Amino acid sequence: MLSAARANRRYFRNAYRSGQHGWEVEEPSPYAVKFLIRLKRIIPNGKLLDIGCGEGRHAILASRLGFKVTAVDFEPLALERAARFAKEKGGQNIVFQTANILHMPAHETAFDIVLDYGCLHHQRKTDWPAYKGSLLRFLSHDGFFILSVFSPKFPLFRNSRRNWHIAQGAYRRYFTRRDILELFGQEFEVLELIEENGGHHGFWHVLLKRRKTNSHFHGQPSRVSCPPKKPVQV
Ligand SMILES: C[S@@+](CC[C@H](N)C(=O)[O-])C[C@H]1O[C@@H](n2cnc3c(N)ncnc32)[C@H](O)[C@@H]1O
Repeated sequence: MLSAARANRRYFRNAYRSGQHGWEVEEPSPYAVKFLIRLKRIIPNGKLLDIGCGEGRHAILASRLGFKVTAVDFEPLALERAARFAKEKGGQNIVFQTANILHMPAHETAFDIVLDYGCLHHQRKTDWPAYKGSLLRFLSHDGFFILSVFSPKFPLFRNSRRNWHIAQGAYRRYFTRRDILELFGQEFEVLELIEENGGHHGFWHVLLKRRKTNSHFHGQPSRVSCPPKKPVQV
């Protein structure tokens, strides 16, 4: 039997091959737009890491707003498309990197913003410590985290008694408000937490700021220089 991680990889590979994956390809989420415009006023030209960037719609938006963007995904086909879209849409100097967020190589940059639209809710609970480890390693000590995850109102979960679901091999999990606070509340202050609930949606959109007081917990972001694997500059 396939491990959950390999099943997820296979699901995303097939999703990008077929292009029938069900999430928006080019238009950024209005919530990401709102949060990024807010952050642009605080840290213009800041460094942003988009994790699970897919075809790059949020990385491109961030680049067009003036952020210096690195975008990672474990699916090379998604990154190829993202690089192409970035060229077409004027996303400047985005570094695209093939990487698994759970096993990210050290990076010389501390990012001012980490953005995750739809990646965390595909990670099993047992992988949350690795996810958070990467997040806290890459985010500067006064950085911001933009997160969008499934809420219980996402259609897939509406009649489900479980908070997770496996469809076509891919793992999906919804988060309650409490889950989000339990997972991130110690290290982050929640600045905005919006529930989107309409049509095919059912999401939390969250803007968090890292608490300075916990900075000693996780040490400085690694300064070990490790060039990205196969970077594609556009
Ligand atoms: C639902 S898609 C969202 C894509 C993009 N963020 C967007 O908003 O269009 C989730 C993305 O996360 C990527 N992903 C899932 N688990 C990952 C992991 N452990 N490491 C890196 N990328 C991952 C998938 O390949 C997929 O592109």
